[in-house]
Amino acid sequence: MAKRDFLSLLDFAPEELNQLIERAGTLKQEFRSGGSEQPLKGRTAAMLFQLNSTRTRVAFEAGMSQLGGHAITLNSEDTQMGRGEPITDMARVLSEMVDIVVVRTIKHADVIEFAEAASIPVINAMTSLLHPCQLLADVQTFEELRGPIRGKTVAFIGDGYNMCHSYINASRQWGFNLRIASPEGYRPDSQILASTNNVTLVDSPQEAVENADLLVTDVWASMGHEAEERDRRSTFASYQITETLLDQAKKDALFMHCLPAKRGEEVNETVLDDPRSVVWQEAGNRLHSQKALLEFLLG
Ligand code: CP
Repeated sequence: MAKRDFLSLLDFAPEELNQLIERAGTLKQEFRSGGSEQPLKGRTAAMLFQLNSTRTRVAFEAGMSQLGGHAITLNSEDTQMGRGEPITDMARVLSEMVDIVVVRTIKHADVIEFAEAASIPVINAMTSLLHPCQLLADVQTFEELRGPIRGKTVAFIGDGYNMCHSYINASRQWGFNLRIASPEGYRPDSQILASTNNVTLVDSPQEAVENADLLVTDVWASMGHEAEERDRRSTFASYQITETLLDQAKKDALFMHCLPAKRGEEVNETVLDDPRSVVWQEAGNRLHSQKALLEFLLG
């Protein structure tokens, strides 16, 4: 059987994604009741990170360990890749030694190149284009609290970057309506946008959140854009998530942020602790959804 990769939500069929969310719920219950079976006993994951990570890395490391396997984290600078060893050679070498590779690269083309050269499954742990693992946790969290996300309205407010792109793909796979409010010059990739009719670009955060079931944002300057942070602060100033903005959504609307957040920028000082914010549950679900993903890809 051909190996499967998870580079984008579009690599899986909608029913497979739903299967992952359901399994993540079961794994969460098992985790809370003190343990689970160890289906990945003897299996090893290698994780290559070109960019910093807390949640993604810990979720995969703890997840592999809880499932009976083992994870090795490599910061790419510590490896021979940092000295110029080609991605394709690294992919072929790791394919001889481990069972699965988790890759966080700046360029999306690099994770694709890696996956094409690898003979084992490859997971995209975030690139500048997409962050599919985060969406598994987001959908799990929404469905735990509000039931199926299909047919609901999600408002994405802020930078039309990797999280926004993954929400566009998610709207297609899970069948929800997505409204995006981003400043001019920071709107999402037009090709990704053109892939679905479920998305509407709107002119203001207020328009996006009207009657919305879920509000989502991300930092204004993602990793790699730190030098633009000052300029972006003024461009995005009216896109901050506040309690007042949340008040304009549905009464039972939820708020999510993939974290890390910058209080005083895309969120005010207090909204992460508002009762409508589910960011801590969302972060915790990275563990369970990524365990479900590892199990799925490793059979
Ligand atoms: N949300 C997220 O991917 O967090 P990390 O960058 O800490 O992994």
